[in-house]
Amino acid sequence: MTSPVWHPFHQHGLGEPIPHVVRAEGAVLHLAGGGTLIDAVSSWWVTTHGHCHPRIAAAIAEQAGRLDQLIFAGYTHGPAEEVARGLIDLAPRSAGRDPLAHVFFSDSGSTAVEVALKMALGYWRNLALDGLAQARHRILVLEHGYHGDTIGAMSVGERGVYNQAWAPLLFDVGTIPFPAPGREQAALDALESACAAPEKPAAFIVEPLILGAGGMLIYPAPVLRGMAAICARHDVLFIADEVMTGWGRTGTLFACEQAGVVPDIMAVAKGITGGAIPLAATLATGRIFDAHKSTDRARLFYHSSSYTANAIACAAACANLAIWRQEDVLGRIGKLAEGVASRLAKLADHPAFTNPRQLGAVAAIDLIAPDAGYLSDLAPRLRAFFQERGILLRPLGNTIYLMPPYCLDADQLDCVFVALSEAGECFGVRT
Ligand SMILES: Cc1ncc(COP(=O)(O)O)c(C=O)c1O
Repeated sequence: MTSPVWHPFHQHGLGEPIPHVVRAEGAVLHLAGGGTLIDAVSSWWVTTHGHCHPRIAAAIAEQAGRLDQLIFAGYTHGPAEEVARGLIDLAPRSAGRDPLAHVFFSDSGSTAVEVALKMALGYWRNLALDGLAQARHRILVLEHGYHGDTIGAMSVGERGVYNQAWAPLLFDVGTIPFPAPGREQAALDALESACAAPEKPAAFIVEPLILGAGGMLIYPAPVLRGMAAICARHDVLFIADEVMTGWGRTGTLFACEQAGVVPDIMAVAKGITGGAIPLAATLATGRIFDAHKSTDRARLFYHSSSYTANAIACAAACANLAIWRQEDVLGRIGKLAEGVASRLAKLADHPAFTNPRQLGAVAAIDLIAPDAGYLSDLAPRLRAFFQERGILLRPLGNTIYLMPPYCLDADQLDCVFVALSEAGECFGVRT
């Protein structure tokens, strides 16, 4: 029987089999028919502590029987209040910097980014209405960035095959070159001149320290610090998209911490509920909130979705925050990162691979291939290859990356790296 389901980022015309998962536990997915897969990509980077974490599952069950959903325009509930306070407590902070003090809920990384962009533009508009500044509309972005698949989020991401169908709808942005090794100062100089241009930018949006979908491209913390300092000097709002990097992926709770950066606006999603249920939040400093606060109803922040701050999702997020507060999650990530590092070092000697890289428990390596790039033929073949070996990996073109849940054990990690090495044997073009 053919399925009516239309899958995301999936070419149905190729007829690739679609595994049916019936249950999940820790780092393992159980398939209909009995097989298992090690989830080495945290089910699209969301699962942090492991699938079906008992504390998070219990919080969801308990909340589902108490209060499921509430209109959030002008009403509130305990789980949302608790998550908001928890996020503010855990957010990056630094002496002398305006702290993140307000939390706006939404339901995906893309919407958290849309909200961030709307907040930035709303800030400048409202200041202009009061005659305190010129209105500003221009957004600066980093080359190879990815921020989601809604129109605004696509507009601030790298242009490519994944958004070319909608190119006429995407708004124009200023692109700062990626600070690749040896090109760091050039990137900072480009940002400095873009910020100083006569058409003053409203904001600069970045994925801090590592660009995920752009190919797991890592850049150093001092560059991130430098970018934030340039924005502060020119009063250009600094938006950190921590949708992927947040919740420990880079070895700290948020990547900005490693650079001592406090953004003006920060988007979080994915692991906010430990990966169990959708929720997102956009955090903002006092001045962003205050620019929208008025007795004038026309100035309120016009953004919502029906499920904003869904109570069940917020209860899951409360349980996740409690895990972060009470357990040594960073210690667990540190051990996992060590295990990844030692195995990656061995793989780096394999002649089929190049450019091994790692930040926290996120690791990537490129398979040397004649057709590198996102549409590389290798990607679907590698996916099937790993699946046959009981591993869920979803390479970005010829870039194979791991972003495992933090409960992945040494045996599971060994399985993954054995399969990586076999992939090198099977698909690698030797130099
Ligand atoms: C950095 C970043 N921002 C935004 C998004 C969009 O998040 P979502 O898929 O939840 O809309 C992603 C998704 O991978 C991401 O990596």
